[in-house]
Formats: sequence, structure tokens, C-alpha cells
Amino acid sequence: MSALSVEGLTAGYGDVTVLTDVSFSVEAPGITAVIGSNGAGKTTLLRALSGLIRPTAGGIALAGQNLSGLAPDGFVTAGIAHVPEGRRLFAGMTVEDNLMMGAFSRRVPAAELKRDLDAVYAIFPRLGERRRQDAVSMSGGEQQMCAIGRGLMAKPKVMLIDELSLGLAPVAVDVLVAALKKVADDGLGLLVVEQDVAVAFELASAVVVLDRGRVTRTGPSAAIAADPAVRAAYLGEA
Ligand SMILES: Nc1ncnc2c1ncn2[C@@H]1O[C@H](COP(=O)(O)OP(=O)(O)O)[C@@H](O)[C@H]1O
Ligand SMILES: [Mg+2]
Repeated sequence: MSALSVEGLTAGYGDVTVLTDVSFSVEAPGITAVIGSNGAGKTTLLRALSGLIRPTAGGIALAGQNLSGLAPDGFVTAGIAHVPEGRRLFAGMTVEDNLMMGAFSRRVPAAELKRDLDAVYAIFPRLGERRRQDAVSMSGGEQQMCAIGRGLMAKPKVMLIDELSLGLAPVAVDVLVAALKKVADDGLGLLVVEQDVAVAFELASAVVVLDRGRVTRTGPSAAIAADPAVRAAYLGEA
């Protein structure tokens, strides 16, 4: 089922239009990757999809609910979690407290939050081992786990992740890819911005190609990966 649908989205900053007429959908369960060069508008897209910037045209719907006009916390409550580029963990706070920040908008009994925390620790055992440690003292890969875990604590329908692998060691990327596949198998819809197209093709079942703020291609990962124009532009093949 299409969990998130984006229709004719146009957005930018002030007078500057960055995204033009962007349309695609994200299935849940499933993983959709967004690829595109630096400055293509990937981060801007995720900002629009989490309500941080207001589109000038077009619609965003989650499970049939129109999100247009909601404030950012309305997007969270509706079921969109955003893992921002650079992870933005809270320094001076433990891993566990950072994870709990993800649940700020939920009004549920402590026992339920405890179960959800344990579920995050089951996905990322490393976080369980380090739950009392200052989150930003961990490695980049562990911090990315914590940022994703914090997103999961919001119990989203769709999670947006900006630059999953940027700056991380290959072994850390492998751990994250495996964990996200498991999370998607369990029912979540994921939209992952990934500059490393090889990682994107490995991770995702569907790919959206963004070029200068427009969607130039979208479809099953295997079809996009086999496209000679895509390979030439993003894998540097002749
Ligand atoms: N806060 C901002 N104000 C004005 N322009 C911005 C801002 N953030 C990004 N841009 C511009 O929007 C375009 C797309 O940026 P971005 O969405 O960050 O691309 P990507 O994530 O694909 O690298 C770039 O030209 C960038 O300079
Ligand atoms: Mg970006």
C-alpha cells in the first residue's frame, strides 16, 4: 500500500524554488531511496515532508490523510519521523534519554515506552550496551543507530532518513542496512536519502532520482540500477 504520497510538490526558501512538481509515493512496508547529486534538493524534500518548510504547491498525504498546512509536530503525530542529516543528537544526554526524546509527542503509559525502548535495543544491541553513555561520545555509526532509534520511538508510519551512510565506516553501514531491512519487514515505510548509490540500490526496493529539484526517474530499484543513463550519471560509468 502506498503510505506516503507526494503530488506535484513545489518548495524552496523564500523566492528560491528548489523542488518543482515532485511526485512519487512511498510504500509501507518497504524502503524507497532518494538519490541525486549534491544540491539536487534531497534535504529540502525531507524538510518539506516533515513540515519544516511549507510547500508553495502540491500535496503530501500519509495513509490518505492530507498533511498540508500542519505544523511540524502535526507531521510527527500523523506518523512521520525525520532523522536529519548529521543526526542532531542531544549532547550531554544519555543514549536512552535521546531515544526517549523521540517519544515526546506520545501519551502512553511508561510500560509501553519501556517495551518500545527494548524493541529498539533488540534492533540495535549496541545501544542497549551504551544506554547510560553520553550519546555524542559514541562512534558515527552508533550515533546514527541512536538517531534512527529515536525516530522509531515516535512509532511512525513512515520514517525519513537523510544521508544514511555519509561519513560512516563500511561495516557500520552494513549494520544499518541490515537493521533497516528488518524494520521495513516489520511494517514500516522508509524514505532514505543516500548519496552512495550502491548502498541505495542494495537497501531499497524502489528508487527516486532527483535532479535539480525534479524527479527524473522513479521505479523499482533493479530497473533504475540497470538504467545506463543513471549508471553514467551516478556511478561514473561510460
Ligand atoms: N536554508 C536554505 N536557504 C536557501 N537555500 C537553501 C537552503 N538550504 C538549501 N538551499 C539550497 O537548496 C538547494 C538544494 O539543497 P539541498 O536540499 O540541501 O540539496 P541536497 O540535500 O540534495 O544536497 C541548493 O541549491 C541549496 O543551496
Ligand atoms: Mg542534503
